[in-house]
Formats: sequence, C-alpha cells, structure tokens
Amino acid sequence: MSVRPISGFSKLSKDEKIEWLISNYANEPEFSLALLHGYWHSDTNIQKLHDEFIENTLSNFYMPFGIAPNFLINNKLLTLPLAIEESSVVAAAAKAANFWLDRGGFKTTVISTTKVGHVHFFWNGLNHENFEKYFEEIKPKFFQDTASITANMNQRGGGILDIVLKDKTTLEPGYYQLEATFETCDSMGANFINSCLEEFAKILRQEIVNSDSIPVNEKNIEVIMSILSNYTPQCLVRAEVSCKVNEINEGSGIENQEFADKFCRAIRIAEIEPYRAVTHNKGIMNGIDSVVVASGNDFRAIEACVHAYASRSGHYSSLTHAEVVGDTFKFWIEIPLALGTVGGITSLHPMVKFSHEILGKPNAKELMEIIAVAGLAQNFSAIRSLITSGIQKGHMKMHLLNILNQLGASDAEKEKVVAYFKDHTVSHSEAVRVFESVRANVQAKI
Ligand code: MEV
Repeated sequence: MSVRPISGFSKLSKDEKIEWLISNYANEPEFSLALLHGYWHSDTNIQKLHDEFIENTLSNFYMPFGIAPNFLINNKLLTLPLAIEESSVVAAAAKAANFWLDRGGFKTTVISTTKVGHVHFFWNGLNHENFEKYFEEIKPKFFQDTASITANMNQRGGGILDIVLKDKTTLEPGYYQLEATFETCDSMGANFINSCLEEFAKILRQEIVNSDSIPVNEKNIEVIMSILSNYTPQCLVRAEVSCKVNEINEGSGIENQEFADKFCRAIRIAEIEPYRAVTHNKGIMNGIDSVVVASGNDFRAIEACVHAYASRSGHYSSLTHAEVVGDTFKFWIEIPLALGTVGGITSLHPMVKFSHEILGKPNAKELMEIIAVAGLAQNFSAIRSLITSGIQKGHMKMHLLNILNQLGASDAEKEKVVAYFKDHTVSHSEAVRVFESVRANVQAKI
C-alpha cells in the first residue's frame, strides 16, 4: 500500500507522529518503536530541549564524542572535543597533537573577523551615478533606523561596520546590492545580520518612495531578498607549525630531508590538482567539522564557505601550504571560519556546553584558532601517513572494530582478533577469516 500525503503533520503530538511513521514505513513496528524510544534521553527535560531544536523530532541521532588531548596552541595546553563518526579522525588528531607538542606546538593568528550580508534588489533607473550620490545622502539613515537592533551589539563592541551600494548591472540588468559588513563579536551573528538587512530593505524602499530627488518613474525598486552571506573571506584565521627539518620525521621510516620534500610535494599536488585538492581538503574538514559540531556551530555554513574560499583564484586548491626555508620546515593553513561561542545552541545543548567547558570557554576568536588547528593537525597526520606507510594501515586498524561489530563479535572475540592484528595488516577479508577462526576455536573449546 502506498503512503498518502498527510496534512497538518507538524500539529500532531510526538506519539502520533511516531505512530504515523511506524504504521506507514516500519517493517518491524515493535523493533522500530523500541529503537526510537531507546534513543530518547532518560532526563525528560533534556529530551524536551532536543525535541524543540527542530520540528517533528521523534528521537535523537547519536554521534560518537571523543577527545584529543595534548594540543599545545600558543603555549596553552588544550584538549579538543570532537563529534565524528569516522574511525580514524580522533586518532589522527591525537597523533598530530603529540607530534607537535614536542616541537613547539601550534601558533595561530586571527587575521580578520568581518561578516557580510546583502540586500539584493532591482532598480531600473538610468542614472547610476545619481543613484550612488543619493545612496550616500541617505546612508546615515540605515544606521539611525536600526539603532534599536544594534544597541546591544554596539555595547559588546560590534555592530554595522559599513554599508555600500554595489552596481551589479553588468551581471544582470537592473541588479544592485546593499552590501553591509558587520562585526558580531562572540556570536556567529546570523540573526543579528539578517535582522539588520531586513530593516535596511524597508528603509531603502521608504526612502526612495519619499525622495524628491529620484524621478517618479524611477521610484520602483524590487527587493528580492535580504540575507547574510556564508562566504566570509574576511573572517580569516591562520594556524601554523614549524620545526627544524632534522626534527620532522621521528619514527616514520624515511630520512628527514626526504620526508620534508615529499610532504611539500604532496601539498603542492593539492595546490595544483583539484582531484587531489578535494580529498586533501576533505581530510582537513574531518578535523574542522568534528570540533565545529562539538562546539555547536553550523558545519554546513563552514563547509560552504571553506570550499568557496578554496576556489577563490578560480581554481579549486589546497587550504594548507608547506615549505622548507633553509633548515626549517613550515606548514600552515589560512581559512575563513565564522563561528560563535554565544547564541544558537551553544548555551542550550548540554554536550555543546561541556565542549566549551573542556576548551576553557573560548571566545569566538579563540575558537577560530582552535578549529583551524584541528584542520591543520588532521591534514598533517593524513599527509604523514600518505607519504610513508599509506593511510590504509592506520585506517583499517581503526575500522577493525566496525567490521567486528558487523560480524557480531563478542568482547572476548574482539580482544583476540585485535591482538592478532597488532602485527598483521588489516583487510576486510582477513578480519573475517581471523574472526571466524577465533570463533571456531572458542566454540571447539566449549
Ligand atoms: C579520509 O577521510 C581523509 C583522507 O583521504 C584525507 C587525505 O587524503 O588527505 C585521508
């Protein structure tokens, strides 16, 4: 029987929604019902919080929450919280943290923190220059008439930085923008920016209607939308590591100079070859997204921005760079990260709050630095493995438990199989073979 459309679904109670879902989609209704209930938080207040984060919440969707200790960032020792499902990410972060702990740690700088948003509109007047002059005349109005929205932010040291009129008519006839720049301090600022922009759109319309200097036949402006941009190339942070070439490669089996050269070449390939750059940057985002999620920030916004930034030259390229200068190896990342440490779910989600506590309650700039480090560290571990042992050795070791869980291995069986693979290469078929022989052995003994 096919499922028919349902109207007013959001108005149903949670139990009614579950009932509807189970009766229409579940192959094993009792199992699925128990599954949804099983993921509810035992504290009803916490569950209610989760229920109210989004619409139509039925249950929770768990992700592992891990930590990577020993991150020395600007001489401060930190433990990073990471929310991620991919087996090797936390291990890679922890490995890089330990590696750089002995070599001076990570150094970071926040380069800029400006956010941006636009009122996109169409105006079919003919005299662009006059329009520009007119905009400059009415510009103070945009600041004055948003004073009630900006008062709080101004007090915190932020607010609207500037508003400019942008003529985009060469891209599309009649297309203009008000482009506004903002400082939003410790909040990511989406609500603040969008509220200001929607107000700007109203002010613009009103001013033009009431204007004596705009001819009547040119008063018609059509506002299409008012929205922040998640592309924030002026909200930029840099993280770097460096050490002497002769300290770079303890324990990975090749000479220091060869390691440094190979490392720089691997980065160079990601700079010039988009097929490699995408995978390279994906690895960086393993580290970045994990801390972004754990800290309650919007990973979709970060992802969209970062990849646009990686293409800013017109060619998708690496986010990290490396060089050997004299006897020194340098490795760095420069990346736009628009983050918040207040607002959103940062003060609501209990695990997010705990993540901030672990990080020592950073402000937004400090969080930018920490998260840039998470990306750089992840990339360092990936490249280090790729140019030496290959990634599969470490990756499959971490993945082994997933394979064993799929096979339904008991704890005792897992222990035996893991012990075997301490000095053997893991592959899926080998894992199955060893598991089966361990099980047969155990059963034979029984
Ligand atoms: C896997 O999630 C990430 C890597 O492929 C990144 C890379 O190749 O640099 C290991």
